[in-house]
This record gives sequence, C-alpha cells and structure tokens, in this order.
Amino acid sequence: MSLRDVLGSHRVVVTVGSGGVGKTTTAAAMAVHAAMQGRKVLCLTIDPARRLANSLGLDEMTTSEQDVPESLFAKHGLECKGALSAMMLDTKRTFDALVDKYASDEEARDRILGNQIYQYVASSLAGTQEYMAMEKLHEVRQDPKWDLVVLDTPPTASAIDFLTAPERLIDAIDSPAMRWFLQVFEGAGKEAFGLVGRGATVLLKGIGRITGLAFLEQVAEFVSGINDLFGGFKERAEQVSDALRSPEVAFVLVTSPDPLAIGEARFFSDKLEEARMNRRGVIVNQVHPLIEEPSVPVDQQVDALRAALPSSIDAADIHPRLTEALHAERTWAVADAAQVKLLTEQLENDAGIVEVPAFDEDVHDLAALAKVAAHLTDAA
Ligand SMILES: Nc1ncnc2c1ncn2[C@@H]1O[C@H](COP(=O)(O)OP(=O)(O)OP(=O)(O)O)[C@@H](O)[C@H]1O
Ligand SMILES: [Mg+2]
Repeated sequence: MSLRDVLGSHRVVVTVGSGGVGKTTTAAAMAVHAAMQGRKVLCLTIDPARRLANSLGLDEMTTSEQDVPESLFAKHGLECKGALSAMMLDTKRTFDALVDKYASDEEARDRILGNQIYQYVASSLAGTQEYMAMEKLHEVRQDPKWDLVVLDTPPTASAIDFLTAPERLIDAIDSPAMRWFLQVFEGAGKEAFGLVGRGATVLLKGIGRITGLAFLEQVAEFVSGINDLFGGFKERAEQVSDALRSPEVAFVLVTSPDPLAIGEARFFSDKLEEARMNRRGVIVNQVHPLIEEPSVPVDQQVDALRAALPSSIDAADIHPRLTEALHAERTWAVADAAQVKLLTEQLENDAGIVEVPAFDEDVHDLAALAKVAAHLTDAA
C-alpha cells in the first residue's frame, strides 16, 4: 500500500522515529496532502515550535484547534478540497480532563488537581507526555468531525517509551509495590510515613522520578487521591492500548539516512511488530540526492563559471573547490543510498520506502510542506 493510499484509507496516522529525523515535518506534510485530497484532517502535535505553526500559516500552535484557511492554500497555488486544522497537545490539560472524568466526586477531584505532586506528575513526569498523546488520540479519533487525525509524536529518548506508555501505566497501577505502598499508607496514616519514608521514596523512584523527603506529605495525599482514580484509569489505559492496534490506525516510521538513525528505525520496526501495531509506511527523510558529474571538459566548466560569476572572482580559482564540494556531496549520496538499500533489505513485508531529499532550506511554509508531501506520495 502506498503512503497515498494509507492517508486515504486510515483514520489515524502516527509518525514515529528517533529525535530530529523529521517526524513533525512529515506529519504536517501528510496532513496537508490529505486535506488537499479532500479529507477533513486534524494535525495533532506535541511540538510547540513556532516554525511548524508558521509553516502552516498560523502565528503559533495553540491547545485548541485552529483552522488553516483555504485562502492560504490558494496563496501558494494549492487547492484544498478538504479541510485542515492543527492543535497542540496539552499534556496537563488532557490529564486534568481524565481526573475530572474518573474522580468519584468533586472533592476528590479538587484534592488531586490541587496537589503539588500531581501537578508535577501531570506536566513533567517521564512517560506522562507519551501516555497523554495516546489518550488524546483515542479521544479525537472517535470525533466524527475528523476523517483523519495525524499525530506527531514527541522525541522520546527510547523510542519504545511511546508505544508502551499505556501498558506501563497499567503496570504501575497494578504493581505489587504500588499496592504495598497504598496499604502501608492507608493502614498507618501519615504518622507512619517517617518510618516508611525511605522505602516509599525508593519505590516512588520506580514509578516516577520523584525524590526528596520534603515531598512526602504531598506524595501521600497524591497517592491516596489517585487511588480513587485507579479503576477508571486502568480501564481507560486498556482501551487506549487496544485502540492503538486497530486496523484504522497506521504507524509511519520516519528516519534519516544516518546509520545510527537507520539502526534505530530497524529496532523500532521490530518493536512495532512485537506490539502488533501496524507499520504502514517508512519515510527516509533528508536524503542527499546524487548529483550527476558534469559531462563537459574542465575548461568548458571554467568558461561557464566565468560567464556566471562577476569578473572580480577568478573562476579558475573557484573551480577546484566546487569540484571538491561536488565530490563530497556525491559521497554523501552514495552512503545514503547504501543505507536505504540496507533498510529495504532488512525490513520484511515492506510496502516500499519513500525518500524525501534534503532541501537547501528548512521546510518553512505550506508550499514547502506540499513539496515534501509530493515526494511522500510519489507525485514529485
Ligand atoms: N527534507 C528536509 N530538508 C530540509 N530540512 C528538513 C527536511 N525535513 C525536516 N527538515 C528540517 O529539519 C528540522 C527537524 O525536523 P523536525 O522538527 O520535523 O524533526 P522531528 O523528528 O520532529 O524532531 P524532534 O524529534 O525534535 O521532534 C526542522 O528544522 C525541519 O525544517
Ligand atoms: Mg518533532
């Protein structure tokens, strides 16, 4: 299945890959393409980058949806047959909404929302962002307003953090250590906390990364508060986890041709398969294109340079440097091609890898995104 077909037939497309390879850019490009083709598309991103907002013609990314006006497509000579909106994920707000939904009563809700540890966990705890992205995805995927949701994932230190976020939440909730902690706390009350303090701190490091005994009271309140939510949370995390395996969700693996990134892409692909998540496309972004060697003799090249350059610059002097730069560029291109070939051989059941060249400039406007999209969908 080509990427064009993937974008035409799925409800959710998720870009995944290691840091800096172009996940945000290709997610936006795919959203632009699908909108131009007539789908109603939401581009959901974690990246507050102004650059991305600007390239979609928005001043900045906001946590409520913003429409990309059709006139902007027209301005770049593009036609949008569908509709495109963009929204930035707000991890804390998503978490707050979950608390609101699953707290047993208003008092319990307010206690947890006002708790300092909760506020830390909700915005900065490792793994929360990944889980909340999945959570939000699950929510908007059910919204009939969108034909397609394209989700750009955060740069995760370890790629699998992202995929396993729902399972890890379930594990944390279900862990014997967590149960022990709750028992101790509920049995002994806050007074006993000094005694279990060390153990609890070590334990909490396991669930999150909270340190420092000064936090313990807040921690205690947090734990008892969140205990109230566990049942609902667990069920929800299970739903989210299942939803990620549904046939209407397509994962698109993004990598650069850098050998390290290629290695990670392979690893990530295995993880997707292990997790029974559907890899429906592979993008190798920022590939150096192979520039042809000049077909005319050196003296003619120098003549052509002389004609093109101002007379103050000595063409004969510049020529060897240009030749050197061309060779370096060709070396890159050959190395990139070898990496793409390697990846093609190593990824089984592959519907085809698409390549996007490294452009001279950053991808900074709708026209540039459409150009990326043209490469992705073989229309370039
Ligand atoms: N094909 C390309 N040619 C030139 N520049 C590109 C290309 N693709 C992406 N870029 C630029 O590379 C930079 C990184 O891209 P992007 O932000 O999409 O990566 P990312 O994978 O989302 O990074 P992160 O993991 O940090 O979220 C951006 O400045 C983007 O404009
Ligand atoms: Mg990004």
